[in-house]
Amino acid sequence: MSNATSSQQTVAILGNGVVGIALAKGFLEQGYRVVFGTRDVAGSKTREALAAVPGASAASFADAAKACQVAVLALPWGGLQQALEAVGPVHLAGKLVIDPSNPLDFSTGQPSLALGHSDSAGELVQRLLPGAKVVKAFNTITAGHMVRPQLPDGTPDMFIAGNDAQAKAEVSALLKAFGWRTAIDMGDIQASRLLEPLAMVWISYGFRNNHWTHGFSLLGQKA
Ligand SMILES: NC(=O)c1ccc[n+]([C@@H]2O[C@H](COP(=O)([O-])OP(=O)(O)OC[C@H]3O[C@@H](n4cnc5c(N)ncnc54)[C@H](OP(=O)(O)O)[C@@H]3O)[C@@H](O)[C@H]2O)c1
Repeated sequence: MSNATSSQQTVAILGNGVVGIALAKGFLEQGYRVVFGTRDVAGSKTREALAAVPGASAASFADAAKACQVAVLALPWGGLQQALEAVGPVHLAGKLVIDPSNPLDFSTGQPSLALGHSDSAGELVQRLLPGAKVVKAFNTITAGHMVRPQLPDGTPDMFIAGNDAQAKAEVSALLKAFGWRTAIDMGDIQASRLLEPLAMVWISYGFRNNHWTHGFSLLGQKA
């Protein structure tokens, strides 16, 4: 945080796995101050994340959330609820919260959705963080292509969903800055019921072809 200026926005990256690290790098490139929120500030995973994202710092979930203007939930389904309790929903009230999570159940070996049709991880997150402006985004691409997702046959689109129009406009601008072709707004956070199964299409194609660098694009979009 040494070169931070007061006008700089702080993003709290909650979770320090591959998604957290990938998005942290993207935010850093855009001039954000980056703080990882973690269960273990001194742990080896946190040290690895800080080494991978020079200039970032680490704090408890609650301290990272308090410090931020924008938060990213780079958390596994199994730890999401517990982590958000540790964050303290009050610390994210009024703030943009980007949710790339997928409710994946690995208990049978192959990933499948742990919930769907009548609920979604996006809606659960919004219920757990009632004051936050939750936007589902980045859940239908691999971590390695979340920033500058140029694929050999084109630049993909990212589907987003959320209840707050201004928050979705911010995420759309971020996606543009990260190198996406367009952000496609699918409606309020309930549309996570569509976007999380879409991630399963991505995952299933990956397993069927042992190929992990694909992305979605919507042709013929309304001008
Ligand atoms: N991997 C991808 O390419 C990809 C793509 C699209 C979407 N997603 C979604 O993005 C989310 C993050 O994915 P990821 O692959 O980065 O996840 P991950 O590596 O499994 O976990 C991210 C971090 O979550 C933290 N965490 C907090 N509470 C936890 C708990 N109870 N159990 C386990 N970890 C906990 C851990 O950091 P600390 O131990 O420091 O707290 C961990 O490093 C997931 O919901 C995933 O479905 C992933």
